[in-house]
Amino acid sequence: MIREMSVGEVAARSGAAVSALHFYETKGLIGSWRTAGNQRRYPPGTLRRVGIIQFGQSLGIPLAEIKEALDTLPKDRAPLKQDWERLSQQWAGKLDDRIARLKKLRAALTDCIGCGCLSTELCPLRNPADRLARKGSGPRRLLGD
Ligand code: FES
Repeated sequence: MIREMSVGEVAARSGAAVSALHFYETKGLIGSWRTAGNQRRYPPGTLRRVGIIQFGQSLGIPLAEIKEALDTLPKDRAPLKQDWERLSQQWAGKLDDRIARLKKLRAALTDCIGCGCLSTELCPLRNPADRLARKGSGPRRLLGD
């Protein structure tokens, strides 16, 4: 028998705050319907979805990416073990990318420790995306770069 749950039940069983569940709902991560008395009711698969959301957040995955992942799951059933395996493999790759980026930043920060110049020309962290600066000083776009 499929049993729907109130927001209080979902909160108690998932450990998420009621306000967090409402927020997830406004962001489209979970869904509910209303009773004749205008109370929210959630399908049973909501607990697994909330578990995936909480897990993703603990990994630092942005909510928008968690939503993208949840959008790939069937709406008519709870996420299965295979679904979670697929999502967790994708997130492992994202985590590896983030770790690699953080390691690069950490290495750059090592050069800055004890420096303090905050130079837009020399410091690798101050303005790392300033590709035009590599072409020289001055208004690079007005100069035709
Ligand atoms: S603060 Fe000087 S190189 Fe970053």
